[in-house]
Amino acid sequence: MPRWSDTRLQQLFGVEHPIVQGGMIWNSGAKLAAAVSNAGGLGLVGAGSMRPDVFREHVRKVRDLTTRPFGVNLPLLYPHTAECLDIALAEGIRIFFTSAGSPKKVVGRLKDAGAVVVHVVATPELAVKCEQAGCDAVVCEGFEAGGHNGREEITTLVLVPECVRAVSIPVIAAGGIATGAQLVAALALGAAGVQVGSRFAITQESSGHAAFKQAVVAAGAGDTHLVLKSQVPVRLLRNAFRDRITLLEARGATRDELAAELGHGRARQGMHEGDLAEGELEIGQVAGLIDDVPTVAEVMRRLLDDADVVLSRLAGGTGQAPAGPAC
Ligand SMILES: Cc1cc2nc3c(=O)[nH]c(=O)nc-3n(C[C@H](O)[C@H](O)[C@H](O)COP(=O)(O)O)c2cc1C
Repeated sequence: MPRWSDTRLQQLFGVEHPIVQGGMIWNSGAKLAAAVSNAGGLGLVGAGSMRPDVFREHVRKVRDLTTRPFGVNLPLLYPHTAECLDIALAEGIRIFFTSAGSPKKVVGRLKDAGAVVVHVVATPELAVKCEQAGCDAVVCEGFEAGGHNGREEITTLVLVPECVRAVSIPVIAAGGIATGAQLVAALALGAAGVQVGSRFAITQESSGHAAFKQAVVAAGAGDTHLVLKSQVPVRLLRNAFRDRITLLEARGATRDELAAELGHGRARQGMHEGDLAEGELEIGQVAGLIDDVPTVAEVMRRLLDDADVVLSRLAGGTGQAPAGPAC
């Protein structure tokens, strides 16, 4: 088990390892969040795809499944977010990861309640705004990440050091991290820890549909593309729906035409109901490194063991690449 030299995230969240499970619509319910927290990371219940009453149930269920710290992810773009925020505070949650909007709207209230607030950004300019708004840390999410993504297309390898030099609060690296080597690389860039999405989506505890998980196992790194830049940019696995969107975008379709093709409920259709042809299948470029559907405990073990081997190799030891799947 690696001995971490930077312990800022462990202190901020009260966790053992600087590994956060990203909030993920249709994937990050109570089972996933509790499993990550039980394995020594920080689990997050993702409010994005939950009605407020369902969100409350999941928050309560995590409490039944773990005594360790966990938090919530609130994407600020949904109409139900304000109600979920009230519920989380009333349920005693004090770790908030916000995304997709300005943290200014909520940070004052959360800080007054004694919460830790972390916001997800895709540019160094936004990282600075988060620090100025009073956030305790920022997740800096690169272009290769799964889910919604920055229009600027800055990759993790560039974004993380840019953010590290722009702010003095801890930077949590996200996007393209699924192995211990990638975790160590993020720390080498100055990150205090990592947020992992795609790898945790493809585990037994994730609530994603089994067909979605198998589609990711079968996918290669080049099978995901960022689409819908004129709406809300999102990285999707190739399927019939994404092909139609790509064609529409190539011929300069208007926002209205794209919105009509998108319709409603595509993410649910793809990741929750398993419609591999017509649903949105959100996943990062690391899909190419994901070859199986293990438990969260196994993912954490591989991350930590692999990180140990890499750290030892970099220190001039004899670290050998671990046997078995890479992540
Ligand atoms: C299926 C899926 C759904 C996601 N949904 C959300 C979300 O609801 N809120 C959010 O802040 N980020 C969301 N993300 C982004 C993740 O929280 C995380 O930052 C990202 O996946 C990290 O990159 P990686 O996929 O390369 O690990 C989602 C990612 C995936 C793969």
